[in-house]
Amino acid sequence: MDFIDLKAQQDLIKDNININIAKVLAHGHYVMGPEVYELENKLAEYVGVKHCIGVSSGSDALLIAMMALEIGPGDEVITTSFSFIATAEMIKILGAKPVFIDIDSQTYNMDPQKISSAITANTKLILPVSLYGQCADMDAINAIAKFYNIPVLEDGAQSFGATYNDKKSCNLSIIGCTSFFPSKTLGGYGDGGAIFTNDECLAKVMREIRVHGQDRRYSHTRLGINGRLDTIQAAILLAKFKIFPDEILKRNKVGKQYTLRIKELQSSIITPQIRSNCTTVYAQYSILVDDREQLIGKFKKESIPTVVHYPVPLHLQLPFYNNKLNLPIAEGVAKKIVSLPMHPYLSVKDIEKVCQILAL
Ligand SMILES: Cc1ncc(COP(=O)(O)O)c(C=O)c1O
Repeated sequence: MDFIDLKAQQDLIKDNININIAKVLAHGHYVMGPEVYELENKLAEYVGVKHCIGVSSGSDALLIAMMALEIGPGDEVITTSFSFIATAEMIKILGAKPVFIDIDSQTYNMDPQKISSAITANTKLILPVSLYGQCADMDAINAIAKFYNIPVLEDGAQSFGATYNDKKSCNLSIIGCTSFFPSKTLGGYGDGGAIFTNDECLAKVMREIRVHGQDRRYSHTRLGINGRLDTIQAAILLAKFKIFPDEILKRNKVGKQYTLRIKELQSSIITPQIRSNCTTVYAQYSILVDDREQLIGKFKKESIPTVVHYPVPLHLQLPFYNNKLNLPIAEGVAKKIVSLPMHPYLSVKDIEKVCQILAL
């Protein structure tokens, strides 16, 4: 059993992928070729925003977005301590300070009630992460941000395709960013990412930053990076996007089956809690267990992979180390969380096998 079975997906769309790659090889526009623009148009329509900007990774999406928002030294960005490092890393790379707040005990996303007390005169941005496939509580976050006149950037690397109050992730604040890392819900065969916005001016600036701050060839209006999405990745993503809505349905079927079976075990295992105004894409199926190491050992014995997303909250990682911060929920969840195999093609038989081990 694989943690994520990309082979099953590839078998399904191999012909389309080969056709799309062959087209790129034939026209030869490997950088910013027509497939990049075609993908951007399709994804913008899907998310329901005016602009999609294809970029080199989810990390670079965050970097470019924050460069466009002019985040820099002296600025503070309020974010969650319970995420993949890229979220806080990009803040610090720009010379700004990540201000970590605690998470909601049910969704593991940023707790909006913790935002106000973290705001100072230097707060320039609020950066929630929509973790494990479920959007952060964006209405509550946006309301506080509006009161203090601070922009909100959603890190939707794990939530592409999810909805919040019937609106898609990455269309819930001024800018949304996502990742096309192979294991993501919409993943390429290499690195990639995208930025979404309705703001004309920010879109123009971010398109320039993506190509060395260039407004036209060799005319540089600002500092930028080499942050483009490869044409070949766009071609692959176009083939994958065709089956993406169906894959989300399949992920939900798997997620629901896991929850049903785990609840039947009547154990102390805590399953993912999905808010009634949200749909999830189950980027991970993560449970809380009391004795994680023992459970991981049982899975290892049966050669079933598990992953811990994430064992150490960001405020306790060396680049941001601050053990004086009091974030008990993030620290508690980090000790108990473990992710089970999750992908659209996980069979009922495999789900049963996983649940039998959980029952031991
Ligand atoms: C929450 C979150 N933010 C950002 C990233 C960075 O994305 P990428 O790996 O495409 O740079 C990831 C990827 O794992 C992520 O999970």
